[in-house]
Amino acid sequence: MSKHQVALIFGGKSPEHEVSIVSSKSIYNAIDKDIYDVILIGISQSGKWYLEQEANYLQYDFVIGEQGEELFVLPGHTKDQIRILSSGESLGEIDVAFPITHGPNGEDGTLQGLLNQINLPFVGPDVLGSSVAMDKDVSKRLFQHAGISCADAVILHRHLKDEIDYEKIVEKLGSTLFIKPANMGSSVGVHKSEDRASFEAAIAAAFQYDIKILVEKAVVGRELECAVLGNEFPKASTIGEIVIGKGFYDFESKYEDKNNAQLFIPAENLSADIIKKIQDVAIRAYQCLELEGITRVDVFLTGNNDILVNEVNTLPGFTSISMYPKLWEKSGMAYSDLITHILQYAISRGHRNQSLKSTRK
Ligand SMILES: Nc1ncnc2c1ncn2[C@@H]1O[C@H](COP(=O)(O)OP(=O)(O)O)[C@@H](O)[C@H]1O
Ligand SMILES: [Mg+2]
Repeated sequence: MSKHQVALIFGGKSPEHEVSIVSSKSIYNAIDKDIYDVILIGISQSGKWYLEQEANYLQYDFVIGEQGEELFVLPGHTKDQIRILSSGESLGEIDVAFPITHGPNGEDGTLQGLLNQINLPFVGPDVLGSSVAMDKDVSKRLFQHAGISCADAVILHRHLKDEIDYEKIVEKLGSTLFIKPANMGSSVGVHKSEDRASFEAAIAAAFQYDIKILVEKAVVGRELECAVLGNEFPKASTIGEIVIGKGFYDFESKYEDKNNAQLFIPAENLSADIIKKIQDVAIRAYQCLELEGITRVDVFLTGNNDILVNEVNTLPGFTSISMYPKLWEKSGMAYSDLITHILQYAISRGHRNQSLKSTRK
């Protein structure tokens, strides 16, 4: 059997650009090279696409676009749809794309729309699921509609920022608040506030990343995560836990080994009943947002055993030590087998969608 050609897509116009490159290198190293050939496509910080070569890509100080060849795409084509700008040469027949692009422009449906336009099946949810899952406000509205609990919040819009009434927000949500951009990840632009001055600084910071932000009631509880995998019949993994030494799970504790953040996989001291309930909530959240492929569902478990969905990540951190793959490893699926499964789900979904009629007759 000939090998499948996988376009591994990483980087992107996003504050999570570097995190994406790290995730992609883990995937590149672990992908089953007996089944797959990998084509490396880097998206620069400004959003341009480049074909990268392994020798440069694997360097510690690799920068997308420095040595790569710029690419262009041909919408509507079913093969040879990605080509080198300078020569017009095709990257060859590609079977499936694995975008591991976190955050805006990569995880929010925009890249997914472009991949649909060039007829490439891809890993992760389709356009609708990716975009609603990226928007924490829209996700919350859909969760509430489906009876899935989440933290109470107030939504603020930048064009109405002069009307923000701190006292009223505190009256509704209490004085300990989380402020976050509606569309972002890796805790970029997320702040906790306890008083008016820190609230004002936090909203100014969040409005730099988005024109819409959330002010949430601070939830006191355990921070737990569940990995979901599959298309029409998704499966939920075992549960993991984030334990923070001090503060909250901010960018520094996620990537710079600060604040003593520890991952427990699986989470300890959870009853079988609570594990099952979290898995059920994770699957319901997945289906309620029209997700397919992969997604990590993050929840809080309160002292009363209430489960509140915090957020979902449709292209979660994917290094071999990241929560999503580790949860599947603990559930019995090794990292490289997980990659194979994910690619198979992407290909079968691509075939399913391409078989739908696009003419009237
Ligand atoms: N309402 C909340 N109550 C308590 N902690 C929160 C709340 N919202 C966010 N946090 C903390 O901030 C972190 C980042 O927020 P999150 O909404 O997950 O944003 P991101 O998409 O950037 O990961 C969470 O992992 C958690 O530690
Ligand atoms: Mg998060």
